[in-house]
Amino acid sequence: MNILVTGANGQLGNEMQIVAIQSNDKYIFTDVCEGYEKLDITDLEAVRKVVKENDVKCIVNCAAWTNVDAAETAGEIVETLNATAPENLAKAMKDVNGLLVHVSTDYVFGGDPYNTPCKEDQKGTPTGVYGLTKLHGELKIQATGCNYVILRTAWLYSEFGKNFVKTMLNLTATRPQLKVVFDQVGTPTYALDLANAILKIIEDYKKECNLKLDAWNYSKNGIYHYSDEGVCSWYDFTKMIAEYSSQTKCDIQPCHSNEFPSPVTRPSYSVLDKTKIKETFGIKIPYWTESLKKCIKNLK
Ligand SMILES: NC(=O)c1ccc[n+]([C@@H]2O[C@H](COP(=O)([O-])OP(=O)(O)OC[C@H]3O[C@@H](n4cnc5c(N)ncnc54)[C@H](OP(=O)(O)O)[C@@H]3O)[C@@H](O)[C@H]2O)c1
Repeated sequence: MNILVTGANGQLGNEMQIVAIQSNDKYIFTDVCEGYEKLDITDLEAVRKVVKENDVKCIVNCAAWTNVDAAETAGEIVETLNATAPENLAKAMKDVNGLLVHVSTDYVFGGDPYNTPCKEDQKGTPTGVYGLTKLHGELKIQATGCNYVILRTAWLYSEFGKNFVKTMLNLTATRPQLKVVFDQVGTPTYALDLANAILKIIEDYKKECNLKLDAWNYSKNGIYHYSDEGVCSWYDFTKMIAEYSSQTKCDIQPCHSNEFPSPVTRPSYSVLDKTKIKETFGIKIPYWTESLKKCIKNLK
């Protein structure tokens, strides 16, 4: 199968390039920057053209506006990139009876207080522009009637780009003391683990696809939650980053979120319930500390 990856130069896009090496499928990696086949996903006709020219039957959308705070003031582009562009990809997949694998976020929740892991059918209550536009993206994809798997994830990190792990590796190595919030909990997700889960979903889709001849609906179309296993605060996360990178000199202390005011209220409890994805696709999810250890080793 020919599979198109958008936003290939991002964290998840880079991990997709790594896991795709194991696959027999043909992957086409695209982004808006140099070094990749150029594709701006806000341009519907450009998306349709690349899908047609390459006989694409699956798109993995790793492109998005991901700067949560900057989204508050960036204007129309955030909705265009997080909602209209995924709709473009969905339309292109609808045209050819293909599958869109799209990545969404725990930021679609947060407005209503909750303290148990979020299931897929929990009502979306975003607190900022990023979460709201990502929620719009989910709805727009579903409205096209294409085959889709939407994966909501959280606290994504990797060896690539800017992320919390890389920032904390730097700060714990250079600062004598560091304060990190302990009143927001969630689960870190190594983008490599998410990329492996995506590959497993595509394998499942291909099996079902082979049995069908004409227009058909994938039996597993839907929204799924994926993060690594376990729960921690940003403070605990930082403590483990320091431990696995053998940074013993930095004194890391817990603090409250109000010491670091930001334009968007972060969900204080942001744990995703992964039962559905594990039961549907038989995906085994690693514990977050094991994955963190691997990422830090890979970074070294
Ligand atoms: N990061 C997190 O903590 C987190 C948490 C939960 C969910 N997610 C979701 O996970 C997904 C992957 O996130 P990530 O952290 O891997 O993202 P990322 O590192 O920010 O990568 C996004 C990529 O998309 C590219 N892009 C921007 N505009 C584009 C356009 N018009 N057409 C095509 N490509 C474009 C970006 O290029 P430029 O860099 O040149 O703009 C970048 O290479 C996103 O859907 C995000 O919302 C992320």
